[in-house]
Amino acid sequence: MRTRIIEDTTQYNGQVLEEILSQEQIEERTQELADEISKAYEGKTPILIGVLNGSVFFLADLAKRLSIDCEIDFIKVSSYHSGTQSSGTVRLIKDISCIVTDRDVIIIEDIIDSGLTARFLKHRILENHPNSISFVSLLLKPECLKLDFKADYTGFEVPDRFLVGYGLDLDQKFRNLPSIWAFSDSK
Ligand code: IMP
Ligand code: MG
Repeated sequence: MRTRIIEDTTQYNGQVLEEILSQEQIEERTQELADEISKAYEGKTPILIGVLNGSVFFLADLAKRLSIDCEIDFIKVSSYHSGTQSSGTVRLIKDISCIVTDRDVIIIEDIIDSGLTARFLKHRILENHPNSISFVSLLLKPECLKLDFKADYTGFEVPDRFLVGYGLDLDQKFRNLPSIWAFSDSK
């Protein structure tokens, strides 16, 4: 297993990260998801709505692999104020700019944990009467498997540890790591 020791001078200095998903694994699974979505939406032009900031890398890689036309927009919400604990409430920070009425909407998430964010987004989009709505999440934490909410397309089930990289952050850092890593001392 690849590990790395954080060598910057912040509070994370000296902590160990373990790679849990490599760039190759992410690329391969993203291609499979893109093939499934292209087939399911053949002849349609869905709007991909990326949930900022975490989904940007995944959305870009997924969109490039679709063989259908699509539009791209973004929404920004916040549930994690700082650190690794969720605040339990979801706030809308930046709304979509497209009109979703009668459109096929695909929400693109980096990770679903408690499912609160996904549930909030679903209600927010449904208010505007899309033709259809589906969810794609690269990662699923075990907590969300207990929910009645199910993402339509998911990349990987991951352990209940705090993850960073490929868009996922800890206090806005580590998003630009090209693969996905877990803190080795996190639960
Ligand atoms: P949920 O509302 O609990 O499902 O959490 C969704 C959001 O929490 C994600 O879009 C992420 O921004 C963030 N999140 C959840 N787990 C992690 C993690 O392990 N690392 C980084 N961010 C996370
Ligand atoms: Mg985050």
